[in-house]
Amino acid sequence: IQRVLTGITTTGTPHLGNYVGAIRPTVQASLEPGVESFLFLADYHALIKCDEPERIERSRLEIAAAWLAAGLDPQRVTFYRQSDIPETPELTWLLTCVTAKGLMNRAHAYKAATDANEAAGEDVDANITMGLFSYPILMAADILLFNAHRVPVGRDQVQHIEMARDIAQRFNHLFGRGRDYFVLPQAQIDDHVATLPGLDGRKMSKSYDNTIPLFEGGAKGLKDAIARIVTDSRAPGEPKEPEGSALVMIHDAFADAGQREAFHADLRGGLGWGEAKQRLLALIEGHIGPMREVYERFMAHPEQVEEILQAGARKARAVATPFLKELRQAVGLRPMV
Ligand code: TYM
Repeated sequence: IQRVLTGITTTGTPHLGNYVGAIRPTVQASLEPGVESFLFLADYHALIKCDEPERIERSRLEIAAAWLAAGLDPQRVTFYRQSDIPETPELTWLLTCVTAKGLMNRAHAYKAATDANEAAGEDVDANITMGLFSYPILMAADILLFNAHRVPVGRDQVQHIEMARDIAQRFNHLFGRGRDYFVLPQAQIDDHVATLPGLDGRKMSKSYDNTIPLFEGGAKGLKDAIARIVTDSRAPGEPKEPEGSALVMIHDAFADAGQREAFHADLRGGLGWGEAKQRLLALIEGHIGPMREVYERFMAHPEQVEEILQAGARKARAVATPFLKELRQAVGLRPMV
């Protein structure tokens, strides 16, 4: 049995980057025979970046509804809210005690924050919380608690998964006594969509405010967002270079090989950007249009989502509780009664 696990932070409305980096590959993987999937809403992680409770709650519902609309079958997978699993923060502490501070110093998110402080002439650690600093340990706990083999993510998360491996190895080495408590997880990345660009060509990200929402705003929201994708100023009739164009990369994340080739050839042959955007809209709408109805139905019935998540939490804890008991014993804590 292969365990596949991933989470999405509940700080905003799900966007195309989340869809191609996490939602789509996990729904596909969950249908493979011999795969056991653990998919969750990372609301403990959300607290690191967001101090608006209503936003976290809304985002949690939207991401859950999006995953369900994309075809996740809650009977088949374990689908839960991170904060329903108290074993996660407890494991985080056990792991924190074996994690070198130097490892955390190298985390990209922390380094980006200290670099920005330095550039602004401020104290390097100004406004940086311990939550941000030890974020990769919480993520390692998410993964290791369920001994996941594969973690489907976008490229931005790869370093975190490498850190989870480091931390797992350290724990196994210190406390294993001949037994490897933790499986070493592997990142799973789809080459075509490793990093989906946003409207401005930078990585599509809530923090850059350059996202194309998956469902928010309906078909019109999608159309308006696509209209705002930045392109070069070549006029219709002029040949265009598909390589490096954000619009083309977004297209290719939804296209099959034949559609990709045709689109690139048409652009090289002078297809106008306006028309290219219409084709992109039709392509994406073809994929997500049919899901929208299911999404709206769940958004209108949060109590159904709640029921699904609570059942998921029971399934997840049936795995997590006995495993944490063993881990407590391994490090010398009294086994919990
Ligand atoms: P988050 O919420 O930032 O993103 C969720 C998932 O979406 C992917 N993603 C992208 N993929 C391709 N192109 C993009 N532009 C893009 N933007 C986002 C991310 O790579 C991610 O897979 N720390 C994680 C959540 C998390 C987690 C975990 C993931 C918590 N615990 C354990 C895996 C395993 C995060 O903030 O992702």
